[in-house]
Amino acid sequence: MTRPQLLIDTDPGVDDALAILMAHAHADVAGLSIAAGNVGLGHTVRNARTLVDLLGVATPIFAGCATPLVRAPDEDAAFVHGQDGFGDVGFPAPRAALTDEAAALALLRLTHERPGQLTLVALAPLTNLALALRIDPCLPERVARLVIMGGAVTGHGNTGNVPAEFNIGFDPEAAHVVFEAFPQFELVDWEATLRHAFDDAEFEGWLKQGDERAGFYDSIAGTARAYNAQHGRRGVIAADALAMAVAIDPSIVTRSEKRAVAVELDGRLTRGATVVDWAKRLGRPANADIVLEVDQARFAAMVRRALGAQD
Ligand code: BDR
Ligand code: CA
Repeated sequence: MTRPQLLIDTDPGVDDALAILMAHAHADVAGLSIAAGNVGLGHTVRNARTLVDLLGVATPIFAGCATPLVRAPDEDAAFVHGQDGFGDVGFPAPRAALTDEAAALALLRLTHERPGQLTLVALAPLTNLALALRIDPCLPERVARLVIMGGAVTGHGNTGNVPAEFNIGFDPEAAHVVFEAFPQFELVDWEATLRHAFDDAEFEGWLKQGDERAGFYDSIAGTARAYNAQHGRRGVIAADALAMAVAIDPSIVTRSEKRAVAVELDGRLTRGATVVDWAKRLGRPANADIVLEVDQARFAAMVRRALGAQD
């Protein structure tokens, strides 16, 4: 398989970190555009730079929007990822450079430079992508694929707006812009994530066998793993890693359904919900290829290699 070329929009974040490790192990990474989400933009940018230091790569980092497009969010996810987004370990100041190009402009430039070659992987609230689309609505024509981690396709979300998933619920207007603008994207939702958690003991083994990447991930993941355990979530849940696996190798998908998906903007109890026309009643084009199952063994192998824990 030729190495895919990825452009990653991300809000690191513990599971973003694992996804970024995977991307650098299995693909060429054209850049990291950074969103606010899990924690504030200052932290997410710093965490991206810390990761680039760890990997010893020259991947460019572009800072994006510090706030959602329209409304202030109800909550961030510091209670899962730690106040700094990386488990409050207290890493030293990173050395990796931050470019002075805005994330939305970098998305446009890089897709102009490599038309039809880049897979856009969206692991964060969709603020930067929406802004890029408002500047240049032709962006989808220059992207090979768009893979989005977001949504909860049967309403089993993970936010205070019960059916909403975090990335969509944080900036529903941005998600609406993206879902309307891209004629086709692959959607890896929160519910698929729960179905593809890793066994705790097995994952511990990979962390022990792995290299400095495993040690790093182990150090940042404590807060998130404790939160998940306290809230009855089974195993090691890595939403962004699952989306990244699909982005790197779409042949790991074993079951998916194409449907029209729209974002609720106004609901009293449902703002940020992803509404799927499962019964195909509306006659709207099926914009989303909803990933339902992947080959778990192949997903696991991709994660092990990213942690330096190959068999
Ligand atoms: C998504 O929200 C964030 O907390 C994670 O990084 C992931 O992108 C899961 O709902
Ligand atoms: Ca994320």
